[in-house]
Amino acid sequence: MIITDSEEKISELCARWRSEGLSVGFVPTMGAFHKGHLSLVEIAVASSDRVVVSIFVNPSQFGPGEDLEKYPRTIESDCKFVEELGASAVFTPRADVVYPPGFSTSVSVAGITEGLCGAARPGHFNGVTTVCAVLFGIVKPDLAVFGMKDAQQLAVVKRMVSDLRMGIEIVAAPIIREADGLAMSSRNQYLSREERNQASLISTGMMKAENLFHMGERNSEILRKEFVNTLKDAPLLRVQYIETVNPETMLGVEEIDDRVLLAVSVFAGKTRLIDNILIESEV
Ligand code: PAJ
Repeated sequence: MIITDSEEKISELCARWRSEGLSVGFVPTMGAFHKGHLSLVEIAVASSDRVVVSIFVNPSQFGPGEDLEKYPRTIESDCKFVEELGASAVFTPRADVVYPPGFSTSVSVAGITEGLCGAARPGHFNGVTTVCAVLFGIVKPDLAVFGMKDAQQLAVVKRMVSDLRMGIEIVAAPIIREADGLAMSSRNQYLSREERNQASLISTGMMKAENLFHMGERNSEILRKEFVNTLKDAPLLRVQYIETVNPETMLGVEEIDDRVLLAVSVFAGKTRLIDNILIESEV
């Protein structure tokens, strides 16, 4: 497996693969891998001839006072994990490679980015779409894998790729969870033992809301209340948002038809955790 921080090297490598008729799969990440990230790499390896993983803690998607400096960095072990899974290359660019002097472009997707995490983290999605556009331009993958854990990010990237005719297939990967249901996240390691224990109620609350739906409840407000109620005995948890939205447009849904995305952001102490569940009628 090739590990490089050179844009020229990675783009030449990918161009060579394409010229040999090999398909290129891509998994963009910020590193500090857990099983969630690795599941994306597995999907990419299963569906393409060569796989590039990027590791880049993208400054432009962090707001002031967020965890850019303390974001966990474990590049060496990350590379070992993905090599074992069959990735062909890891691209670890420096910030001045991604954003060289004179860089002046910002890719901005309207609408879908306005609610949920977009409202909670102003400018965040512009950072995400801009870095993804740059990385897509370097790697020029046939497909790229994104986790449903960040459902709004997935919808925003799909919209960008479609609007800008980037010709990349965006593959959605299911959320990987800990045994007690907590969605895996690089930020879980910030949690104290007590915060970590209470955080398992996030997925419990979402599952309770889902149960109500399967029992026939179609009013979103009632599902949201069920979630909030589940967290009421967890003093270290604070709900930042709980929303019921259309999974493609991220627009709010009050009376549910046959599917809705329940998306939540909860602070456990100072750590912001996001999670979601796609609730659908059984066919
Ligand atoms: P990062 O947070 O490192 O996540 C990289 C990818 O892993 C994303 O597609 C995310 O949805 C997925 N992922 C994270 N936790 C997951 C879980 N528990 N189950 C399944 N997939 C999971 O998302 C980013 O980086 C950045 O915004 C990026 C797209 C790389 C742009 O900088």
